[in-house]
Amino acid sequence: MTSAALSKEEIRQRINALGPWFHNLDLNGVATAPSHFLGDYPMVKWRRFSTVIPENLEGKSVLDIGCNAGFYAMEMKRRGAARVLGLDTDEEYLAQARFAAEVKGLKIEFRRLSAYDVGSLGERFDLVIFMGVLYHLRHPLLALDLIQEHVARDLLLFQSMLRGDSRVDAIENNYDFWTAEQFDSPGYPKLHFIEHKYADDPTNWWAPNRACVEAMLRSAGFTILAHPEDEVYLCRKVERPQADGPVYPSRGPTR
Ligand SMILES: C[S@@+](CC[C@H](N)C(=O)[O-])C[C@H]1O[C@@H](n2cnc3c(N)ncnc32)[C@H](O)[C@@H]1O
Repeated sequence: MTSAALSKEEIRQRINALGPWFHNLDLNGVATAPSHFLGDYPMVKWRRFSTVIPENLEGKSVLDIGCNAGFYAMEMKRRGAARVLGLDTDEEYLAQARFAAEVKGLKIEFRRLSAYDVGSLGERFDLVIFMGVLYHLRHPLLALDLIQEHVARDLLLFQSMLRGDSRVDAIENNYDFWTAEQFDSPGYPKLHFIEHKYADDPTNWWAPNRACVEAMLRSAGFTILAHPEDEVYLCRKVERPQADGPVYPSRGPTR
């Protein structure tokens, strides 16, 4: 029997066996994470910025990096995307995503692959989704550089946890060695390093302020088209301002 034909009780049992869930999904009337600390997450967030993504994605390809249980991948498939590939490093989340997509009858590929290894895909995507992953990485700018260089063709949907001041200073192109007061300004790009834990999560490595994520996106070669929600940006791939590539020599396709 396919998952699409499961009874409510069978779905509930599978949800329990696959849990705990970070994404609260509605699987034929059964919620996967009804007591999520952020409410009906990510639906509450998605509702605040869903209009920046084209309603019709027919013929488009989508890569969802750090897809978790597949909420955004499934939303993109629902909008008609021809190909949707979801990546995550966590097999348990991928098992949730595969089950959820099957229950909903959506044809999506989910694969275990790290954001650092997107070069091995050897494929570009019209829309790359990189939501809620940057601050979980020890090398966040490397990941953004690799996404720009290897898999982004046009649009990037990006989100990061933000902490600190939300002002954004105008940054000079250069500062003299003896000029240092800009670093103390609340609106200067700042990436706070978390040595131990934040919110009980040892994988929260960085907490950027708003000026910092905007500067990182620009520096990796993404221009900001829209900022529809506090933490969310829609960007377009452009040429990297300093076109010398990631410091770490990135690998291209291995095939
Ligand atoms: C906070 S969740 C965000 C999930 C989803 N993108 C969203 O916005 O709701 C972070 C996800 O990134 C995944 N992740 C962490 N490190 C990763 C890496 N190096 N490459 C790909 N995914 C990663 C985690 O397993 C987790 O599913």
